[in-house]
Amino acid sequence: MKQILCERPHHLRMLEAEMPQPKEGEALIRIRRIGICGTDLHAFRGNQPYFTYPRVLGHELAGVIEAVGENQWGLKTGDQVAVIPYIECGTCIACRNAKPNCCTGMSVLGVHLDGGMQEFLSVPCDHLIPSTGLPLDHVALLEPMSIGAHAVRRSGVEPGETVLVIGAGPIGLTVMAFARQRGARVLAMDINKERLAFSQSWAKVDATINASEQSMERIVHLTNGDFPTIVFDATGNAKSMMEAFQYVAHGGKLVFVGLFKGDVTFSDPEFHKREMTLMSSRNATREDFLQVMSSAASGEIDLESFISHRVPFDHMIEHYESWTQPQSKVRKVIIELP
Ligand SMILES: NC(=O)c1ccc[n+]([C@@H]2O[C@H](COP(=O)([O-])OP(=O)(O)OC[C@H]3O[C@@H](n4cnc5c(N)ncnc54)[C@H](O)[C@@H]3O)[C@@H](O)[C@H]2O)c1
Ligand SMILES: [Zn+2]
Ligand SMILES: [Zn+2]
Repeated sequence: MKQILCERPHHLRMLEAEMPQPKEGEALIRIRRIGICGTDLHAFRGNQPYFTYPRVLGHELAGVIEAVGENQWGLKTGDQVAVIPYIECGTCIACRNAKPNCCTGMSVLGVHLDGGMQEFLSVPCDHLIPSTGLPLDHVALLEPMSIGAHAVRRSGVEPGETVLVIGAGPIGLTVMAFARQRGARVLAMDINKERLAFSQSWAKVDATINASEQSMERIVHLTNGDFPTIVFDATGNAKSMMEAFQYVAHGGKLVFVGLFKGDVTFSDPEFHKREMTLMSSRNATREDFLQVMSSAASGEIDLESFISHRVPFDHMIEHYESWTQPQSKVRKVIIELP
């Protein structure tokens, strides 16, 4: 089978690899679509923390079951499936508390384990979600969309609440869309005007804020001096994450969806006087995937116009470098396999 291997930073190579041999409880998946995200691009550029090479990238996956044994989930050959790429240990404190998304020994397909940039992949049956009826492209978007759905669910957003989402990249956009779906009034902040415009047209946010222009005054104005009761940071930018503390209403919450490799510091008096709740949000669970799938099926979330680029698997390598450049205006690339 064909496989694209990231041998080392800046080196992708197509090669002929052995077919995977499914173990007990696994199904053999014929990969049909792969979504490309920041993680895949950072891994290629060599600036993804804790990454080891060589690695087969790809964790946003849609496929069809090629072979599966007897199983308790009713999965059968020919079923179209989404893949939950977070492989948890099943026994740690987080797993025992139904939080496999933050397992102490987490291995993510395409990050810590080989992923889906190959014609076939073996996946544990309990990490597959039947998705027949949903377009394949949309199935590949369930994973990134679930990141936003999870952060929103975790934050407990209530209808009518004013929330601020900092960072209008693919991840921030998904947070905005699901916060809107829950009835929140959503303010989007970024330094990129085109991304702010897309937040308005796609996620239907209520107002946008240019972070490089007097954002504090604008937030005060837009909230009548109350400030947003939930602030999500989806920038992965340390300065933004530290500044986010000052935008949270008294009694409010700050949710870090974006992450960076380093320390976040903040003023305890500013934190304390607000009785602020600080949360991180990591990955997603099956529940989030199912919520996204039903929102996509009902048309509440528009997955089609989230896709900015489509490229066949055989041509992926020649385009890959360009997606790391801002001028490519990549939001979501979908790689197509026959
Ligand atoms: N929680 C999770 O499980 C999870 C999953 C995937 C990705 N992530 C993280 O989410 C973050 C966002 O991912 P993405 O793919 O959308 O990234 P991205 O780089 O495409 O988007 C980040 C956005 O933040 C904006 N930004 C940067 N600095 C800013 C500032 N100071 N003020 C306002 N806006 C600013 C950028 O202009 C950009 O539009 C990354 O840190 C990524 O690692 C988290
Ligand atoms: Zn991703
Ligand atoms: Zn675990």
